[in-house]
Amino acid sequence: MVEKSMKSILVTGALGQIGSELVAELRTKYGHDNVIATDLRDPRETLSVEPPYEQLDVLDRNRLWEVSKRYGIDTIYHLAAILSAVGEKKPDLAWDVNMRGLKNILDLGMERNMTRIMVPSSIAVFGPTTPVDDTPQETLLRPNSMYGVTKVAGELLCDYYWSKYKLDVRGVRYPGLISYKTPPGGGTTDYAVAIYVDAIKKGRYTCFVREDTVLPMMYMPDALKAIIDLAEADGETLRYRNAYNIAALSFDVAQLAESIQRHIPEFEVRYEPDFHQAIADSWPNTIDDTAARDDWHWQPNFDLDAMTDDMLANLRRMQDEGTLY
Ligand code: NAD
Ligand code: SER
Repeated sequence: MVEKSMKSILVTGALGQIGSELVAELRTKYGHDNVIATDLRDPRETLSVEPPYEQLDVLDRNRLWEVSKRYGIDTIYHLAAILSAVGEKKPDLAWDVNMRGLKNILDLGMERNMTRIMVPSSIAVFGPTTPVDDTPQETLLRPNSMYGVTKVAGELLCDYYWSKYKLDVRGVRYPGLISYKTPPGGGTTDYAVAIYVDAIKKGRYTCFVREDTVLPMMYMPDALKAIIDLAEADGETLRYRNAYNIAALSFDVAQLAESIQRHIPEFEVRYEPDFHQAIADSWPNTIDDTAARDDWHWQPNFDLDAMTDDMLANLRRMQDEGTLY
């Protein structure tokens, strides 16, 4: 297969945790004006992103087609979604945005003969019956959260558009992502970001999952590298079009707190598990990402302490500058 080149990139959900960093990374790599950031929010409220920016609801097909034609879009990074914790509270919204929004993007990609569609999936595709240690690439996918249900169905839809229409769809199953620039958008793994922010702001944190809760996690620079490397990979080498397992870190909350206490010895964590615990308990401890390592040479760079060092240094800088949320 001859690979087509990616010249004009649309990012949906660009103001979220991933998008607000991915847009900058893509602009550095492919040219500032070749990356069109879009999200639900009015541009007048969005100081966090530079133009080109378009207010765009992924449920609005007419506007999706109009924006895509106007900018000659050939590649989409589809990040607009409702995450796990919000999805449990608003299941209809999660179904609409995560399913109908994705189908609109795949239809657009197919009808306009696009080069590449990147769609993140999640460890939320796994469920209580999935093996929790070294969770394989191919395994039982029977999640019990609405978010997980939409992510499994989304993966199957991506597979379908690849096998039926040869639409070049690619995806990764992200673990919980940790970053400092933008607050996370309502997921179960948000505690692993909030713990750093509260360590800096208050010196203590109240955690909504138990201290022995282990989940797979990843620092944002590795998450950006993963999706861009996969987008750039030779399509001939890819065995999976639903989404690849990718792994970086796995730790429980007590280990995360200890990593922070290397810098802030007086830092304290209290535990008040709530509805997030059931979702966290249904997800794996560790992930087998051999397929991603073999097919497109995936490899992360950050371990827990290196991530903590970088997170705390940046959050302290933001606090000093008055930009910490
Ligand atoms: P986020 O919640 O931080 O951002 C999502 C963005 O989508 C928001 O800015 C929101 O305004 C926008 N949005 C919501 N509904 C929309 C609509 N109808 N039209 C257009 N925009 C809409 O999410 P994120 O963390 O950046 O996640 C991006 C993708 O990565 C999602 O598919 C998510 O499932 C996946 N993912 C994220 C994580 C994580 O830890 N952050 C882990 C696994 C998978
Ligand atoms: N971080 C995400 C969530 O907790 C996982 O997809 O929802």
